[in-house]
Amino acid sequence: MQDFINDLKFPTDFLWGTSMSGYQAEGNNIHTDYYHLELEDMKKPADLQRFTEPSGVSSDHFNRYKEDFRLMKELGFRAHRTTFEWARLFPEKGKFDLHAADHYNRVIDSMLENGIRPFICLNHFTLPYWLYKEGGYENKDFLTYFLEYVSKLVSHIGDRVHDWVTLNEPNLIPFGAYLVKGMPPFKTSIAAFIRVYRLVLRMHAESNALIKSDNTTNRVGTAHAQLLTFPYRKNNPVDIFFSWLVDRLSNKAVFEFIKSGKFISPLGFGEKYNSGRHEIDFWGINYYRRTFLKGPKPIEALPGERTCDLGGASYPQGIYQSIVRAKKELNVPVYIMENGIGTSDDEWRIKYIYDHLAEVARAMNDGYHTEGYFYWSFLDNFEWLHGYKAKFGLVGFDNQTFERSVKKSAIFLKEIINHSCCSESEPITKNSLNGV
Ligand code: BGC
Repeated sequence: MQDFINDLKFPTDFLWGTSMSGYQAEGNNIHTDYYHLELEDMKKPADLQRFTEPSGVSSDHFNRYKEDFRLMKELGFRAHRTTFEWARLFPEKGKFDLHAADHYNRVIDSMLENGIRPFICLNHFTLPYWLYKEGGYENKDFLTYFLEYVSKLVSHIGDRVHDWVTLNEPNLIPFGAYLVKGMPPFKTSIAAFIRVYRLVLRMHAESNALIKSDNTTNRVGTAHAQLLTFPYRKNNPVDIFFSWLVDRLSNKAVFEFIKSGKFISPLGFGEKYNSGRHEIDFWGINYYRRTFLKGPKPIEALPGERTCDLGGASYPQGIYQSIVRAKKELNVPVYIMENGIGTSDDEWRIKYIYDHLAEVARAMNDGYHTEGYFYWSFLDNFEWLHGYKAKFGLVGFDNQTFERSVKKSAIFLKEIINHSCCSESEPITKNSLNGV
């Protein structure tokens, strides 16, 4: 392990963090759409069920956050990206829950007491159930409800939070919810896909403006699912076309909106959204694996490649390519906001982390500065349709006692962090970088 660690050098100000989402870790989010849909699903015949199991208590992070932040600190992390549940703050339409806000106030305090810099994300896929029942993203007042929630959240925790992430993977929401049936409401409709894509970009711009108006020194960014697409058959025109199309829809459309506020085709005709604030202060990359397109069919591993719990293969060069692309497109500070592997083989996780960090270091050496790395996920947690099967955590938990167990991969990352903070060897520094 030591040889591995000596290879990796990061600047002393490189920000080491972890990521999680409220719904996936807290447990008992009884006012959230997913919670109800999971339970309804369990009543269906097995062959019609979409969810593997209900989220239930998850890791009980809601009640154990203090212990979790202490552990994060012990492991050397200095930042944490998470989401607070909209449905806890607004369990009913128009009804703000002050107790939930107080809880999240304490959560922020606890992070700060442990020297953890909070990066708060406004939304990570889930909606209040009442809003879901009223049409969810297709409700004509969706944006108003969302901004009401954001405004309350900011007024409660905004004095202590300065790093905000508007949305988790805005580019995946329309795909999952309105094209490939991977997220509620599990529909396929091109018209709704386009409408909702435009909506999530507007959610970004309007919440961004709201956060900035609260405090102009606030930093606002987004966490983008960096889809890295390749034609499955290198010279096949159909595969080349779909690879280009998916890249345009999932990446280019967001880059262009952030740069110019324009909705590019097929989301629009290049018209500019003249409201909110499309620009960002930092770009968060969520990167896991690459995707081949065989016609419209995604393939996430080549024959013979080892696959993780969710089916994809490890492709570390992709994190390098994602950093370079983001720097070239946007030229703003870049964080790796999510990177991780779902596997019960913790030795494989160590290798995955090492391989990806080596690529981040390579990007930095090539002049593409990266501000920090947030591993997904701090804890094993609820992996949406896949339930608890996929183990992404650096820390596991016992599902009866909820006792935390630190995995070897967490210690490995801790050693890397210690090494980059305290190593006498020459770290990469902003000044030593050529360019950027
Ligand atoms: C999502 C997480 C999810 C992770 C692993 C990311 O795209 O933001 O919610 O758990 O992928 O599948």
